[in-house]
Amino acid sequence: MHDHSFAYLIKHMQSRTDATTRDVAATYDTLPMISQPWRHSHPDHIAALASLFGQTPARPDSCRLLEIGCGTGGNLIPMAVGLPGSDFVGVDLSAVQVRAARSMAAALALDNIDFQDRDLTTLGDEIGEFDYIVAHGVFSWVPAAVQDRIFALCRRHLRRDGIAYISHNTLPGWRQRQVAREAMLFHVRHIDDPRARIHAGLDFLRTLEKENMDARCGYRQVLKQEIGLLEQQPDFYIAHDMFEIHNTPLYFRDFAARADGHGLQYLSEANLGATVLDNYPRETARLAAASGDVIEAEQYLDFVSNRTFRQTLLCHRERDIDRYLTADRIAGFHIAGKLRLDPAADAVRFVGENGRDVVADSPLIAAALGYLTEIWPRTVPFGTLLRTAAARVGAAPAEHDGIQLQNTLLLARTRNLIELSLCPPELGDGSARRPLASRLAALQERLGFVVTNLRHDVAALGDGPALRLLPLLDGRRDRQELLAAMGDAADPAAALSAALKELAEHALLAA
Ligand SMILES: C[S@@+](CC[C@H](N)C(=O)[O-])C[C@H]1O[C@@H](n2cnc3c(N)ncnc32)[C@H](O)[C@@H]1O
Repeated sequence: MHDHSFAYLIKHMQSRTDATTRDVAATYDTLPMISQPWRHSHPDHIAALASLFGQTPARPDSCRLLEIGCGTGGNLIPMAVGLPGSDFVGVDLSAVQVRAARSMAAALALDNIDFQDRDLTTLGDEIGEFDYIVAHGVFSWVPAAVQDRIFALCRRHLRRDGIAYISHNTLPGWRQRQVAREAMLFHVRHIDDPRARIHAGLDFLRTLEKENMDARCGYRQVLKQEIGLLEQQPDFYIAHDMFEIHNTPLYFRDFAARADGHGLQYLSEANLGATVLDNYPRETARLAAASGDVIEAEQYLDFVSNRTFRQTLLCHRERDIDRYLTADRIAGFHIAGKLRLDPAADAVRFVGENGRDVVADSPLIAAALGYLTEIWPRTVPFGTLLRTAAARVGAAPAEHDGIQLQNTLLLARTRNLIELSLCPPELGDGSARRPLASRLAALQERLGFVVTNLRHDVAALGDGPALRLLPLLDGRRDRQELLAAMGDAADPAAALSAALKELAEHALLAA
């Protein structure tokens, strides 16, 4: 009797999982989600962070990477274009999305990428082992049993030094967002059409916000914030973020405990600055440090920041992680930084786009940070940066200069002011006689897609001459031939230079 009911329960649960899996596939087949690059999931970014933590990850330019829930390939395809010596496998449940991914890969004649339309729970030994496994925007959107399969897959298919990147929705931040999601879900309960659901759901939130009588009420603030957030998003984002069948945010401590149950341990957040205690208010940082445990410390940080989202890096439990970041490791990286000198400051102060800053304690450090500012978005190896800075201040670099520069750069990295890289893309500065654009970006522009730059980011180009120029930059046309694309500009040569400069600043030109 006991055996029978247990078998019945398993069978029942399996058929339910199959049913919801089919439903999940249907939602993405009906309203495909146009996937995009996620910088923090790129193997170069992951490898650089892992190296900072004393790991020995596979080189990004000769690795094997699996992306589960790869959607239309917007994250995986740019990786495959930029790293031709590495192999990429993408798996997604939605046949419609995988078809779109395959045709883009074929248009680019990529031979180092394989897209498979299948349920991740069916993956077995035939898929092989990987140096990196990426799951962006998947974990929170699948049933708990599938979440466990994601962890199990990472444990089983990650090589010894392999690293998994799993993004996930977190509590307490999502508690607040769930208020809006549940109100919308309730209101659209009788509507089937995906677009009609989005509009009706948003309208309902607006009504709730308008008709909530107490202006000081926290509920009203929550609604207002959610409406503001959703109004900036495309329809497919709202459809999947707010209406997807599953959306299970977790407290980080529970996520980490479940990963641990599968033999995986927390390495870091892919957003390094979000894990550094010095970046948090003093009392929370003190409580986090006093906990003496990395997972508990992270949980404190989530409570103070009301965090909604994490991009967590995991590795095998057996790996030793050196969480004490030492500046000498900086010497092994290429460095890039989008900084600007603050002219109003008394000290030589460089400010990043996130508003954080770093102060140069010596002329050599000032010269190094100034050089990074000049060459952005291009990178420079640490040794070259040191020598260039020393030459600019007219001195040979002494040992203590190198140490001081490493310390400053480590501080800047923990504040997310600079980027470290092991295999950076070779970027053009716009001065080439026959400029060459990223061939992926040129194709994306021709097809009217979101444009991905060579830094594995969305390129936020305005709708101007630079965008028109992009598909023409195939490395065969010289400047004279490109002038025609400048339309009726008063000074076509100046307009062309400005457009090329803009493309270079957006990391869209190859060296
Ligand atoms: C929110 S989308 C994210 C897509 C993409 N990673 C991105 O960030 O744009 C979630 C993706 O996971 C896929 N998915 C859901 N359950 C799956 C499963 N069991 N096996 C494989 N893919 C699955 C969906 O088809 C969908 O493309």
